[in-house]
Amino acid sequence: MSPLVPDKMKKPRNKPLTAILIGAGQRGVQPFGAYARANPDQLKIVGVVEPNDQRRTRFSHDHNIPASHQFENVQAMYKNGKLADLVFNASPDRFHVSTTLPAIAMGYHILLEKPIAQNMEQLTAFFRATQSAVGQHLWVMHELRQSPYFKRVKQLISSKTIGDLVTLLHTESPAYWHMAHSYVRGNWSIEAENAPFLITKACHDLDLLTWFLDRPANQIQSFGSLTEFRTENAPPGAPERCTDGCPVAATCPYDAQRLYLGANTGWPVSVISSDVSVAARLKALQTGPYGRCVYHCDNDVLDHQIVNIEFEEGVTVAFTLTGHGPENTRKFAYDGTRGHLSGDFERGELTHWEYPHSVPQMMDISCTESGHGGGDSAMIEAFLNAVKSDATPDNRGLAQGLYAHILGFAAEESRKSGCVVNLTHFGREMGAALWTKLLQAAFPGINPNLGQNGYPTVGSGSPGV
Ligand SMILES: NC(=O)c1ccc[n+]([C@@H]2O[C@H](COP(=O)([O-])OP(=O)(O)OC[C@H]3O[C@@H](n4cnc5c(N)ncnc54)[C@H](O)[C@@H]3O)[C@@H](O)[C@H]2O)c1
Repeated sequence: MSPLVPDKMKKPRNKPLTAILIGAGQRGVQPFGAYARANPDQLKIVGVVEPNDQRRTRFSHDHNIPASHQFENVQAMYKNGKLADLVFNASPDRFHVSTTLPAIAMGYHILLEKPIAQNMEQLTAFFRATQSAVGQHLWVMHELRQSPYFKRVKQLISSKTIGDLVTLLHTESPAYWHMAHSYVRGNWSIEAENAPFLITKACHDLDLLTWFLDRPANQIQSFGSLTEFRTENAPPGAPERCTDGCPVAATCPYDAQRLYLGANTGWPVSVISSDVSVAARLKALQTGPYGRCVYHCDNDVLDHQIVNIEFEEGVTVAFTLTGHGPENTRKFAYDGTRGHLSGDFERGELTHWEYPHSVPQMMDISCTESGHGGGDSAMIEAFLNAVKSDATPDNRGLAQGLYAHILGFAAEESRKSGCVVNLTHFGREMGAALWTKLLQAAFPGINPNLGQNGYPTVGSGSPGV
């Protein structure tokens, strides 16, 4: 992650930046494709890599991409040399690292969809590759950082209006129907094809916590399991598919016909069939993954997990991830030495209490823009502005995002082993020198030499390995 910006990368500001999109699925089309179509003066997508013929053709048509720049796989694209200023990578999780490494080597600026990697091995290979990047902006799509809501939370924390953070309660809750859609029937239901539930769903939250606290963690502990969506919990007589006359359809929260054949034809219904007519959707339920009884799927990811973390300077975090809540939201209650901050992201509610005042201040930071509370488009815009600015790349967001993933992998290690995991020992598995580089990139003030408490300490120090 070198700070140099070679002249050949500097772009005249009056021209739109050019991009290659890898993966023209849901996220490729929205937000990346949609941003380019809405802002042609800023961004032009000039090439696409997509194995699905129909999606590739449709995306190419929408963005006027010539046949020469339509590719079925990344190998075919990369062998043509560097074709654009930047790469958006919205391919499935399991391809993120392998399809991004050549782009790093070729000098592209990159905005990679989360999660960065499926496991520590991939993450290590990725971080190692970034070490030879020259003047490149390397970002990960942890877009909640750019949402007006969490930017306000960060600003309140950084300005110390609640003093120093002491303890943080944080909950991420995909609603029960979102859980069923994505993590039981859908794309993220099998860990080996993606990553653990904690990573695929909550790397955003681990990233927010890392960003808010801006320091490394010392120890981590986790418990969790897949409790509900198991064959043995199927109601008596429940068939393999909801379309096969289920006796409990009327009372089952997960009845696919109720979830997918109603008036909504947007997300998540649009995922089950590109043709959203009722007949096409019914056929998709009869033949595809989304019509399966949630108790008769091949899912293996957890449906609830708790993670306790001790960060440097004794700050504690209790994080819960649950797939059984009523709404898709994130809630939190953070206590500091001089106040309290709590909120509900989806509702845009933020409560800020400064002691010794006895009355809390309520703020409404609701955002009408879709896409993670406005975070999606704000993230793309911030990335493009960074590339256009010719400023020294600030890839600290990526380094903290990588660190957040390591928290997730360490939590999984704890859950499986039943032991509290020491982050220094865990992180050094990537190699002591690389681990030190990551700590310094994520937390520039850190002294990676271990302090008296046995952990790296906040504050300047010599960069020992
Ligand atoms: N940032 C966020 O908040 C957020 C939200 C949802 C999804 N995501 C992530 O975005 C990525 C894409 O998710 P999605 O919902 O668009 O999935 P999707 O399945 O709709 O789209 C993925 C696309 O990639 C294509 N593809 C498959 N293999 C490929 C390969 N080797 N090279 C290039 N393309 C390939 C698929 O054909 C598909 O069109 C995933 O990694 C997902 O976890 C991020």
